[in-house]
Amino acid sequence: MPSLPNTAPLTNPVDQEHWRDRLDRLVDRWTTAPALQRWASSSILTRWLVRRRAERLFGVMAGFVHSQVLLGCVRLKLLEAVHASPRTPAQLAQLTGMTEAGLDRLLDSAVSIGLLERRSGGRLGLGPLGAPVVVHQGIRDMVEHNATLYQDLADPLALLRQPGDTRMNRLWPYSQTPQPDAAAEPAPANPSTGGADVFAHYSDLMGNSQRFVIDELLASYPFADHRHVLDVGGGLGGWVTALGQAHPHLALSLFDLPPVARLAAQASARNGLGDRLKVHGGSFIDDELPTGADLVTLLRVAHDHDDDTVRRLLRAIHRCLPMGGSLLLAEPMAGPQGEPTPTAPYYHFYLMAMGPGRLRTPEALTGLMQEAGFTHIEPVPNPMPIHARLLVGRKTRQTVPSSETPAGVTFS
Ligand SMILES: C[S@@+](CC[C@H](N)C(=O)[O-])C[C@H]1O[C@@H](n2cnc3c(N)ncnc32)[C@H](O)[C@@H]1O
Repeated sequence: MPSLPNTAPLTNPVDQEHWRDRLDRLVDRWTTAPALQRWASSSILTRWLVRRRAERLFGVMAGFVHSQVLLGCVRLKLLEAVHASPRTPAQLAQLTGMTEAGLDRLLDSAVSIGLLERRSGGRLGLGPLGAPVVVHQGIRDMVEHNATLYQDLADPLALLRQPGDTRMNRLWPYSQTPQPDAAAEPAPANPSTGGADVFAHYSDLMGNSQRFVIDELLASYPFADHRHVLDVGGGLGGWVTALGQAHPHLALSLFDLPPVARLAAQASARNGLGDRLKVHGGSFIDDELPTGADLVTLLRVAHDHDDDTVRRLLRAIHRCLPMGGSLLLAEPMAGPQGEPTPTAPYYHFYLMAMGPGRLRTPEALTGLMQEAGFTHIEPVPNPMPIHARLLVGRKTRQTVPSSETPAGVTFS
């Protein structure tokens, strides 16, 4: 049996205790004293506070069940059904082939968390949280994808102790060590879809969930100031297509692993970008990136990789840019200066289950960009920093190639 951790109070290592530590200790003692708890829950002045905290904690404890309610609604296509027209539980039971008794609990749970809402005549309609799920295929895809993630998280301590052999890791071939030969055909089988191409599987998933990041970028950054944009790790090209439509003067390039680049080239032929988009296949770990662009975009790529790989990637981007060129990096980030963010736990555990990547703070990413030679690095404020925060940096000096010099050594 594992020994219990030592919970005896630690002595303060500094001689003079800071007033803030004394105050925190006092507050800790108050908030955990049973008598004070009882008084606070009965006093008219503090009751709301205690209740709010209890509800918040209950929400955290029940989070997994809430996810399962959402998964049940998505799998049964309940939200789409009530969006088309509000329906009674009996009609929904008939539509989904579920028993009314079983479905009733799911419907009531979905109402409680805002996915559905009660309408006249005992019918159910779309609730405030159900509406975005109906609108975005990407959310529904991620809900289904999260079912795999949550299997890996069944024992969080086992995952923390030994991340590696997870279901998630097998879905992302470039996260595996050693990396599979990306140029090889046929691509490895996807365990979750029973033989489909893994590269197509994750690229579709990313393509469908990219819309949120695209909207943030278009609303936040002056792309009109550039002439040619290269999207590194660009997937199926959803971003460059949206960018090309919003800014018709831009020349566009995309770089991704060869199997993904092949799919991107096919998609580009279908969506009418024609000669405006040049698609390049390769690995940013081993290959040089194409030159010619004055802006490189890097969307949700760095967080998939360890620091050494990110260093190589950022140096490659720095090399391919002309003097005065820019890198715009967009991905979920931990809160700046250690500020807590509600989205951090999801991304921490997702990236850990996936492989060697990690959620980084804007400061950590800024440090890596600086090492690669970028200057004038600053955050680009965006309206909804849930799916991505943005950082931009400029190339204002040459960097000596990494093979000749340690990372980050530059000359003017
Ligand atoms: C998480 S996806 C993000 C895709 C897209 N940027 C988006 O936001 O939807 C990461 C992308 O990086 C690509 N990638 C990973 N390792 C790579 C490598 N060594 N060279 C080139 N592309 C790579 C993957 O194929 C994938 O398309």
